[in-house]
Amino acid sequence: MQQRFLLTGATGYFGAYLLREAQRIADPIAAWSGSQTGELFGTKLHTIDLCQKNRVADYFRAAGPSLVVHSAAWATISRCFRDPPAARRVNVEGTRLLAELSEQSRARLLFVSTDLVFDGTRGMYDERDAPAPTSVYGQTKVDAEQAVLACPDSVVVRVSLLFGPSLTGRPSFFDQQVAALRNREPCELFQDEWRTPLGLHAAAAAIMRIARSGFRGLVHVGGPERMSRLEMGHRLAAFLHCDPSILVSTNRPVSGSIEPRPRDVSLDSTLWRESFPEAVWPSWNEALEAMAADFH
Ligand SMILES: NC(=O)c1ccc[n+]([C@@H]2O[C@H](COP(=O)([O-])OP(=O)(O)OC[C@H]3O[C@@H](n4cnc5c(N)ncnc54)[C@H](OP(=O)(O)O)[C@@H]3O)[C@@H](O)[C@H]2O)c1
Repeated sequence: MQQRFLLTGATGYFGAYLLREAQRIADPIAAWSGSQTGELFGTKLHTIDLCQKNRVADYFRAAGPSLVVHSAAWATISRCFRDPPAARRVNVEGTRLLAELSEQSRARLLFVSTDLVFDGTRGMYDERDAPAPTSVYGQTKVDAEQAVLACPDSVVVRVSLLFGPSLTGRPSFFDQQVAALRNREPCELFQDEWRTPLGLHAAAAAIMRIARSGFRGLVHVGGPERMSRLEMGHRLAAFLHCDPSILVSTNRPVSGSIEPRPRDVSLDSTLWRESFPEAVWPSWNEALEAMAADFH
């Protein structure tokens, strides 16, 4: 069945993959950005700051979506730490507004959340584990999750660290690592921070599949392998046939850090795997191969 689809954060590192996946499925798409204008992959962008409530409400009603995928956010720990009130306005109040509008118009709402809702003391977290964020960013996402879950037809997907080449021309940390490896520039990576990384293409496919299903509630979507930042760098070097000796092993800062970085926020994705057994679940290498055409 065709759905009128609204995507926020379409110009983001992840949002661009979501937009491309949505285009593949070919429902009508309203693609929102925060500040960027023009179009992306031929889809017109609507520039809508989530803090401008009247504008959000007007454009929401004009789009008349039956399905909303909310990916827009202040999505880094450092940015949220620098200005917590502004981070709350975008991540919490902006999400609450979309939740209210979705409920009023009986649209289904999927919210993209993060593994950084956990404190990282244990790892392999599943949906029953209590969030305990160590950052302003993580706290805003927890609060936003609550607003979304209060909607009758909603789903919160906590995704792990995502990796792959940026589609937007704005280099990500991943792109910087690729450049460092190719240019033989030193690159420091934590050997004591673990995640379950998932390729952006697979994460986008997973989100769109969950969005279009009847699944409600909370679900974790991470990759099949738990690995450290340093190991990711070594695997990337091997994939690119680059010399890994430029990778410098470091530890997470224990003092002088703005906010403590969680040690291990790997996710247990069993519920997702059992609920969507046909979804692709690529290893690190399989994901890089699948995204090879997008490497610059
Ligand atoms: N990247 C990851 O590894 C990862 C992991 C777990 C969860 N997530 C979650 O995935 C989502 C996307 O992350 P990302 O990495 O793609 O982030 P990103 O690259 O920083 O993109 C953020 C997006 O949000 C938009 N935005 C920012 N402020 C806005 C505002 N005030 N009003 C409306 N839109 C605004 C941006 O629009 P403009 O660029 O046009 O300003 C951009 O499209 C986030 O919810 C994040 O928490 C990401």
